[in-house]
Parts: sequence; structure tokens; C-alpha cells
Amino acid sequence: MAYGDVGIELGARVAAALRRGLGVEITPAEAVIRPSTRDGVDYQCNAAMSLAKKVGKPPREVAQSIVDNLDSADLVATTEVAGPGFVNIRLSDAWLAGRAAALLGDDRLGVDPVPDPRRYALDYSSPNVAKEMHVGHLRSTIIGDALLRLLRFAGHEVTPHNHVGDWGTPFGMLIEHLLDEGWTPGGGHSISDLNGFYQAARAKFDADPVFADRSRARVVALQGGDEATLALWRRLVEESSRHFQKVYGMLGIELTPEDMYGESFYNPYLDDTISDLEAKGLTQVSDGAVCVFPPGFSNREGEPLPLIVRKGDGGYGYATTDLATARYWAGERGMTDLLYVVGTPQAQHFAMVFAASRMAGYLTDDHTAEHIGFGSILGEDGKTIRTRAGGSVKLVELLEDAVENAAKTVAERSSLDADAQAAVARAVGIGAVKYADLSNDREKDYVFTWSRMLAKEGNTSVYLQYANARCHSVLAKSGTTPAADTGVLLGSPAERALALALLRLPAAVEAAATAYAPHKLCGYLYELATTFTAFYDGCPILKPDVPAEVRASRLVLTALTSAVLTRGLELLGIEAPREL
Ligand code: ARG
Repeated sequence: MAYGDVGIELGARVAAALRRGLGVEITPAEAVIRPSTRDGVDYQCNAAMSLAKKVGKPPREVAQSIVDNLDSADLVATTEVAGPGFVNIRLSDAWLAGRAAALLGDDRLGVDPVPDPRRYALDYSSPNVAKEMHVGHLRSTIIGDALLRLLRFAGHEVTPHNHVGDWGTPFGMLIEHLLDEGWTPGGGHSISDLNGFYQAARAKFDADPVFADRSRARVVALQGGDEATLALWRRLVEESSRHFQKVYGMLGIELTPEDMYGESFYNPYLDDTISDLEAKGLTQVSDGAVCVFPPGFSNREGEPLPLIVRKGDGGYGYATTDLATARYWAGERGMTDLLYVVGTPQAQHFAMVFAASRMAGYLTDDHTAEHIGFGSILGEDGKTIRTRAGGSVKLVELLEDAVENAAKTVAERSSLDADAQAAVARAVGIGAVKYADLSNDREKDYVFTWSRMLAKEGNTSVYLQYANARCHSVLAKSGTTPAADTGVLLGSPAERALALALLRLPAAVEAAATAYAPHKLCGYLYELATTFTAFYDGCPILKPDVPAEVRASRLVLTALTSAVLTRGLELLGIEAPREL
């Protein structure tokens, strides 16, 4: 992939040097160019070690050949062989300055769109009807939204689909309970407490055999397409959808009711999918259930694990729907890559669904399917997060708390009016919740701590937002707008380091997009913000004794820092207010 990265540009030069010197062909990526943290070194080329065997020469000799043959005229200032065969590279100041200056007019800030765009179907959020969204759905929503933004910015086509749990046996009891509560298909009622509603239905179902019988009959009516039942079911779905949209609105997530592809959407496809699996000879009847046994999955006793596609009673389950889902998005919709942002406990389910989909040919070698798993959110006691009363945390309340806590932080030092302060508190509070989630490797659990996630120092969104606001404040005070043709001067190490950091957005976007790992972008933005802080502390900008061209250059670096931070935060779904 291209991404306009300096490393790839260097890689191309290294590849040319190897062709010239040793007659070997490698791709720019195979040059293994990595940023270096050594003093005076910008990048390091690690290709010599792995090439040594191939060309039959010691690594240091290969490295020396790269140095000797490198066309370094404009780009590279110095190269040297180090250690077992690294090539240390320092970019020329002139090149670096020119490259940084060129970013100013570039809306994409150096990030080239991928030359080989893919078509992604992205399953995320996916809460359940008639249940409150829980923190797992919060993670799925936040991570999914960031991936959507990242992949689209990288140049891919991405279609979101919200796999809402809106079908299945619980709907019998929910509809009966709804009738008991005096609901009509016409409306007029609402549910203020979805969890309470569900629990009440459940309690009645367990205690009252007559209610339980009615509920079972209702499931049959629902599955049989009885109009009156469907009308009630729709009310329940709409009611829940209002709750979901409220959470999405607070989070600034653009999932709409049109993106809802709930389990019920796949109903019309289930029969045909099972017939197809049967026709392909992939099913076996086991204990009365129709099953697919994808190879490589077994239980603790070593027996093959079934993926149940039709239960003994003729009903379909979660797995059947997911087979139909994969078939629909890859087949009917022509998507090339299927991503599912769902908690890690469902890892085996997805692995089996993907394996069965490949057996059936729904997924081919041209497709990828990946479960984008994530860990749990833990309370400060290290256990699954709970309310003080011990109940499960309601997302709406959690997000309201976030904004409230942020409002205190903002009010402490702000000169803004009340409306502006409220908007900033939202940006800071919601941003903090999202960033706390996204800045951690998604596979890991993380501890939810207000004080840590709203800290003004450290790898937090608040720190990034403050750095950005500081840039805006300096630019506003300067009374000028940096022009695209302003020369960038790199007179001090802090300026040079900042220019170098500004050029690393493409690499960060590539790393985050290809590994579906937003935390890699967070790590980069944090590094950029600390590099900016060092520049800001060490390099006066507006002091009267700063020469005009130095001031102009520093303002360009400041404007670029703000542009990259703002764009980076936007890719994470986080706002970057101009003032805090
Ligand atoms: N509704 C499910 C849950 O709350 C998640 C659905 C995930 N997507 C899927 N295609 N299975 O656990």
C-alpha cells in the first residue's frame, strides 16, 4: 500500500540500491524501514539481515552495499552501517522542510488513498431489542465507528450494518408482556426502562405457566408471520431503536435506522441457506439437529464441535443467521471483506461460521472475514464494571456522567460562555470515553477510571485537545494565516523533530487501518502532541525578537500540528474544539 509514507519512499530507494549493488529485487516494503529513536537517526533499514542468506553475504556487507549504492542526493543526509547490519538513515533538512511545507495545502495531509480499494461490510454496535445497550455494545460502537472512518479515509468502500438482535424465542414473552401492559399496535406507550421491562417479562414467564404457554404460542405466531403479532413486534423494535439512536446521538455516531440489518432481516434467506448446505452435502443430523462440522473444532473431550444450523424443533439460531449474513454480504452485496466488531467471547462462534462459509463457498480466496474481538471494560476493582448499587451500568447514564465530569474540568479554566462551555464539555467528555477505549489494544480489557481518562497529561484525548487548542490560540494571536508558500526552517532539533513527526501520519493511518487497530493512531497522535509540546516550550513564536521568517515557519508547523491532530481525532470519531 502506498499511503504517501516516507518509509515507503526510502524503501524504494533501498530497493533500487540493492538492484544496482547486488542485483536482488525486493519491494519497498521488504526494505523494512522503521522510524528510529536513536540520536541523529530518523529511520533505520533492517533489510540486510534477512537478505544476507539469500545473497550469500554477511549482513554488514549487504548493509554497506545499500549505503554505497543509495541514491541519496536530495532525500538523505547521512547513512551508516550499525550493529549487526542496520542502515541508519538521517533525512536531509532541506527535503524534510520541503515535505513539511507541502503538507500545508494538502487536505489529506500526505495520506494517499490505497491503490487497491476493498469493499468492506462492517458489523458493529449490534445491540439487542428490548434490552439496554451494555458496555460491550459501547465498545463495539466506538471501535466500529473508528474503523469505519479509518478505512474510508484510507480509500476503501465501507458499508456499516447493525446486526441487532431483534428475533428469537424471547419475543414471545416480550410481546405477551407488552399486551398485559395495555400496549396497542397504534402506539402511545413507551418503555423508560428496557432492562426492567425484559426482567418483568422473564419473571412472569418463569413463575406463571399460563403466561409461558401464551408466550410459546406467540413465538409460533410471530414466526408464522401473523400480522397482528408482527405489528406488536415492530413497536418493540421501534421503541428499542429510539434508545439506540439516543446513545448514538450522544456518542456522535452516524449509524442510522437504515443501517439496521437485524437478525430478522435474514429470515427470508434461512431456508434457502440450509437447503444449499444440504445440497452441497455439508450437513449431518446429530441428536435431531441439522449440523455442519467444520474441521478443526472440537470440544474438551476431543469430539468434533457442531455448528447447529437447524435445531431439533425446526427452529433456527444465531449460527444460521450468521451463515446467511456472510452469504448475503459476500454474495448478494459483493463485499470483499467482512468485519465483525464483537466481544472476544464470541471468537469461536465466528471462527466456525467463517469456516463453514468457506466450505459452502460463500467466502472464497478473494474474501477475508475477520472477527474484530475486544476485551471487557473493568471497574476500578478490576471486575466487570457495575453501578455502585451493583447493577449493570446504563450507557446513557455513563455518557451523561462523562459530560458532567468534563464540564468541571472545562469550567475550571475556561473563558467561554455557557453554551460554548457545554459544547466543549460534550467534546471533552465523550471524547474521553472514546479515547480511553480506542487508545488501548482492543483485544485487552481496560479499567474505566474517570480521573485517568480526563487527565490533562498523558495519553488522553484531553491532552490532544488541549494541544490543538493551544495551536489555535497561537495562530489567532499571530493575526496571520500561514500561506502555502511559506518556507519551513528547521533551525533547532525541536523544529526538526516536529516536522518529522508531522510526516508520519500516513504510516500511522496505514498501521491502524491494516491491523484494524485504532490504538496505533492514538499512539502516533500522542507522540505528535508531546513533540509539539517540546517545540512550543523550546521555540518562541510570537516574541518580538523572533525573526519574521522564523516566526512564519513556526506558525506553519503549528498550523500543521493542529491540522494533523484534528484530522487524527476525527478519524477516531472525536471532536477537536478550537478553544477549551
Ligand atoms: N447482538 C449480539 C450480542 O449482543 C451481537 C451480534 C454481533 N453480530 C453478529 N453478526 N453476530 O451479543
